[in-house]
Amino acid sequence: MSLCSVNNSQIDAVVEQYQQFVNPWLASLMKFGGFGDVEMEAEGCIVRTASGEEYLDCLGGYGVFSLGHRHPKVVEAVKCQLGRMPLSSRTFFSRPQAELAARLAALAPGNLQYAFFCNSGTEAIEGAIKIARIATGKTRFVCMVGGFHGKSMGGLSATGREQYRAAFEPLVPGFVHVPFNNAQAAAAAIDDHTAGIIVEPIQGEGGIQVPSPEYLPALRSICNDHHALLIVDEVQTGLGRTGKLFAVEHHNVQPDIMTLAKALGGGVMPIGAVMGTPAIWERAFSENPLIHTSTFGGNPLACAAGLAALNVTVEENLPKRAADMGDRLMSGLRQVQAANPDALVEIRGMGLMVGAEFAVKDVAELCINGMARRGVIAAYTLNNPKVIRFEPPLIITADQVDRAVSAFSGSVAEAKEMLGL
Ligand SMILES: Cc1ncc(COP(=O)(O)O)c(C=O)c1O
Repeated sequence: MSLCSVNNSQIDAVVEQYQQFVNPWLASLMKFGGFGDVEMEAEGCIVRTASGEEYLDCLGGYGVFSLGHRHPKVVEAVKCQLGRMPLSSRTFFSRPQAELAARLAALAPGNLQYAFFCNSGTEAIEGAIKIARIATGKTRFVCMVGGFHGKSMGGLSATGREQYRAAFEPLVPGFVHVPFNNAQAAAAAIDDHTAGIIVEPIQGEGGIQVPSPEYLPALRSICNDHHALLIVDEVQTGLGRTGKLFAVEHHNVQPDIMTLAKALGGGVMPIGAVMGTPAIWERAFSENPLIHTSTFGGNPLACAAGLAALNVTVEENLPKRAADMGDRLMSGLRQVQAANPDALVEIRGMGLMVGAEFAVKDVAELCINGMARRGVIAAYTLNNPKVIRFEPPLIITADQVDRAVSAFSGSVAEAKEMLGL
């Protein structure tokens, strides 16, 4: 069977292979969620499946597809690099890596001059933890309940949800979790052995939790008081999603370390990055420049995609587009909430990082399934299944936003009816 052509009769075979060779329990979950089809191709905000259905992608790969699927400029940059040198010899200097690092330094907030490249958000957090430890000589971290930073041992140590952590204890020692959006709790937990505070500017998997405007500035000054580093995880919020290029810009806060991934690859290549200040890089790398490395990190293909993605984001002013379309989406969803105050607790978010919180998880689950049947992809947040998240490509049109709201409205009504609410 050619991987580029799956016909209707082969869908069952693909699902069966998942069941036999990937993860049967995950396969059941996917089918239950309404995603029993096989994805075949995608373009812009649309995903097409083997059975010929078209879906409006309002999940956007959990924040990966900010530029939509297969943005032509990113595809072109990657094709060009593919024809020349996809992976690095790991000996000579690599121009795509150098240019991406320089471009990031020019765009990033404050004094984040240096970048270490890796392949995912989790790896970016691993790098951040290690760099913070070596730069400060300290080992404690203050993290947030409900925070999500990936599922490697370091990422999981920072992640604030017991359900994912419990089976892997003991995790990396020294991580404490305090309630999000509570600066006093962070101040009480920090001490002179604390290397850093790790925080998302808006908690994504925690249920699209937007903190008060004072929160991040307060964390900044708590870190300053204790010579600890402010480590901001912009893996999900970064690169325009919240209406600014970086979400910390809403609060004028300058992190010491910042992590990026997801949208950085322009929806075409996987890539992650840890950024830090010159002082931190000096303490981390001056004695041993190879203290932290990755074979595929910073590879030319991924960096070419990253550079093109940054250019498109700036040229097309996508942060502004996210702000405008986000307002439209939120006001539409709030009308649905007003019509269903019993089912929907809150609509919240910033830009095109929007969450709809349900009173009960079952309604949210049915609603995701209902939206899939109406041709709209959405998902719940990993650390808070009562919240359906909308993170569509930032290039989404007003008509597509309206279509998503109408699918949501129909699905909420249907879910309530099915549950007899
Ligand atoms: C804020 C944040 N940090 C880290 C991660 C982990 O990224 P990845 O899944 O690319 O390893 C995620 C993934 O959802 C995330 O949202």
